[in-house]
Amino acid sequence: MNTDSRCGGPLTFDLGTFGEDLAGNFRDIVGIAERLCSGCAAYHVGFVARRAANPGMSVAVDRQQMVTILRRLLPRAGGTDDIHVVIAGASDSGILATCAGGAFLAGRSVQDRVRYTAIDRCGTPLELCRRYATRNGITFSSIVADVLGSRLLVAADVVVVHSLLRHIPRERHGELLGVLCGWLKPDAFLLMTHGLRSGNESGRRRVADERLRWLIGEGRVDLPESPDALLGRLASDDRARTEYSGSDELLDLFASSPLEVLEVSSVEEKESVDANAALRRRILLVARNRRIPETEYRR
Ligand SMILES: C[S@@+](CC[C@H](N)C(=O)[O-])C[C@H]1O[C@@H](n2cnc3c(N)ncnc32)[C@H](O)[C@@H]1O
Repeated sequence: MNTDSRCGGPLTFDLGTFGEDLAGNFRDIVGIAERLCSGCAAYHVGFVARRAANPGMSVAVDRQQMVTILRRLLPRAGGTDDIHVVIAGASDSGILATCAGGAFLAGRSVQDRVRYTAIDRCGTPLELCRRYATRNGITFSSIVADVLGSRLLVAADVVVVHSLLRHIPRERHGELLGVLCGWLKPDAFLLMTHGLRSGNESGRRRVADERLRWLIGEGRVDLPESPDALLGRLASDDRARTEYSGSDELLDLFASSPLEVLEVSSVEEKESVDANAALRRRILLVARNRRIPETEYRR
């Protein structure tokens, strides 16, 4: 594949993998997590392993919709020489790759101007993003910080948030929206995507975890704990997450924030591994800072 490291991304883009190396992430994750995680290794190892075993889950579910939105909105965001895309909470290379796909499809004049920053409270996903960026020739920087605890000075043209609310206590969601809004430059927008709770979640996870267990068995990786302990920890992590059950709840949250919702769409997770497992819905929201006079967005 030809790449031009001078600019915002590869000249050609593999729309199958989005330039991600899920097997390579899986191969390297334990070593990276041992070095960089503090208390979150089970989550980050588990997340990467689950995606390697089940490429259809997580960001794969709404990737196409995200790319379509980014492709349309990236050209309207940013100035003439710079479009700054900020990812809040990374987990692995998935969201960065999705943004890079949107920039690629928006065309060379957009792609050449995009630079990316990922912010995460753990260095492990940022290291996976850094490796992705190096491999794909995109301009990338990272910040290890708690988005809520640290007063970061961020000036973004696009902020992308995928499932971060699940990791933050419900009573702090309003505060989170305020922080993200404060990062938006005029004419900038936020793209947030979030899964809505479904009754059969455990069936879906069970199937994903059976695959994960198989992969670990085949994978010759030296996990920091037994597969059972890891899967047990992942299950209890999942149960502890804060969830929304309907889009109205999420829209109410935005209504009482400084973010004005401009677009809402949704996608159903098609469960490819188990025909009987439930469908889970994800909701995608595009928002802007309602306190800044509207200029470009609706033109
Ligand atoms: C944003 S979610 C990403 C979810 C993922 N894309 C998915 O499909 O489920 C998880 C990431 O957010 C990070 N994170 C959680 N809370 C955070 C906080 N308060 N500040 C910064 N990063 C945070 C975690 O370390 C983790 O890497």
